[in-house]
Amino acid sequence: MKFIILNWKLFPENEIKAIDLVSLICQNYQMLDLRLQKKYRIIVCPPCIFIPPIYKFLSTNKYQNVLYLGGQNVFYRNRGAFTGTISPVMLKSYNIKYCIVGHSECKTIFKETNIDINNKIKSLLKQKIKPIICVGENKRKLKETSSNFRIKNEIFGQLNEYLKGIPIEEAHNLMIAYEPVWAISQNTPTYLPNPQDTKNIIHNIRFWLSTRFNGMIAQNIPILYGGSVNHKNMAQYLEISNGILVGSASVQKTEITKLIKNLI
Ligand code: PGA
Repeated sequence: MKFIILNWKLFPENEIKAIDLVSLICQNYQMLDLRLQKKYRIIVCPPCIFIPPIYKFLSTNKYQNVLYLGGQNVFYRNRGAFTGTISPVMLKSYNIKYCIVGHSECKTIFKETNIDINNKIKSLLKQKIKPIICVGENKRKLKETSSNFRIKNEIFGQLNEYLKGIPIEEAHNLMIAYEPVWAISQNTPTYLPNPQDTKNIIHNIRFWLSTRFNGMIAQNIPILYGGSVNHKNMAQYLEISNGILVGSASVQKTEITKLIKNLI
């Protein structure tokens, strides 16, 4: 199975537009033939204020197995004086099975630390929610490739910190999104990761996971690619990964329609 994660970020601006978008995604997905529906799972991660209406929309229209809901972020405590946050237990109460963790925007804008990310992963796992863990190098010099020691070191360092204390029994619930920070939200992408190089990084991440857990477990941990994916470049990334994490393109009606239609 391949995963299409739709990270809506801070869009759209109201519930009507959110439901409209969800309905469009469901309709397009249902137009795919059954083989493709079995092959791809689409998970929409809306701003948390839209989780309840989307949940209701999906259940009243019997779309629960068409589109899955995910969180964009979470706090690691389940209750208490933590203004402005949501908890894993709250996500679970909407039957949510996936949640993005460690997105670069949370790290840079909201100053999320490695320890926060580690705590979030642990507390999501306790609620049987699969964390979609974002890793990726911050910068890339023009001629630098993924075999560069600095890049591997940066990504392995993140994995090491984020997965501290995660027992092997929980490893099969992990998902990794390789998101080179420099490639995220490039509105006019001129310089995007080349697929061969990205394949190499995914291979390295899997190798790291196989030494941290074991080869068989590592083989089954989905590793996705994210960063300026759209309907034009999606195929090359889907081919080398277990899925894609789509941000900006996932809230544009024509883009998302074409993206689903382009699934093969
Ligand atoms: P983007 O976002 O597709 O707009 O680059 C990807 C992400 O959410 O990380």
